[in-house]
Amino acid sequence: MSSFFTVEKIILAKKITMKFKFRALLFTIAFTAISGVMYTASAQTKKAPAKKAPAGKSSAADIAAGQDLISKSDCLTCHKLDVKIIGPAYKDVAAKYKPTDANVALLAKKVLEGGSGVWGAVPMSAHPNLSTADAKKMVRYILSVK
Ligand code: HEC
Repeated sequence: MSSFFTVEKIILAKKITMKFKFRALLFTIAFTAISGVMYTASAQTKKAPAKKAPAGKSSAADIAAGQDLISKSDCLTCHKLDVKIIGPAYKDVAAKYKPTDANVALLAKKVLEGGSGVWGAVPMSAHPNLSTADAKKMVRYILSVK
C-alpha cells in the first residue's frame, strides 16, 4: 500500500512541476510579446515628426489667428493690404522683413510700443492692451501677405 502511495506522490509531483514549467513558459512568451509591442510603440512615438513649425516659418494656425485678431483690432484704420494709408501696406512690410523669429519679435514689440522712423515720420500708436503672443500672431499674418 505504502509503495503505491509513493508512486502516486511521484506522479503528482511531476504533474505539478510540469504545470509550473508550462506556466513559466507561458509567462515568458507573454512577457516577450508585451515588451516587443511596447518597444515598437515607443519607437514609433520617437519617429513621429514634431508638429512645431520650423524656425522662421509661421504655422497656418498662427497666421489665421493673426488675421482674425487684426480684423478685431484698430490696425485696419491705418493699414491696408496693398496700399499705404497712414501706415505702410502689409505687402510692403512683408516684402521688407523675412518671417524669422527675430523679425517677428522685433515687429511685435513695435506693435505693442508704437513708434516711427522706419517708414516715415508718422508714428504708429502703441497697443499696450495686446499680449505679446497675440501681437506675434498678427505679425506672422502680416509677414505672410504676398
Ligand atoms: C494710428 C495708425 C496706426 C494703427 C492703428 C496701427 N498702425 Fe501699424 N503702423 C503705423 C505707422 C505710421 C507705421 C510706420 C511706423 C514707422 O515708420 O516706424 C506702422 C508700422 C507698422 C508695422 C511695421 C513696423 C516697422 O518697424 O517696420 C507693423 C508690423 C504694423 N504697423 C502693424 C500694426 C498692427 C498689427 C496694428 C494693429 C494692432 C497696427 N499696426 C496699428 C500706423 C498704425
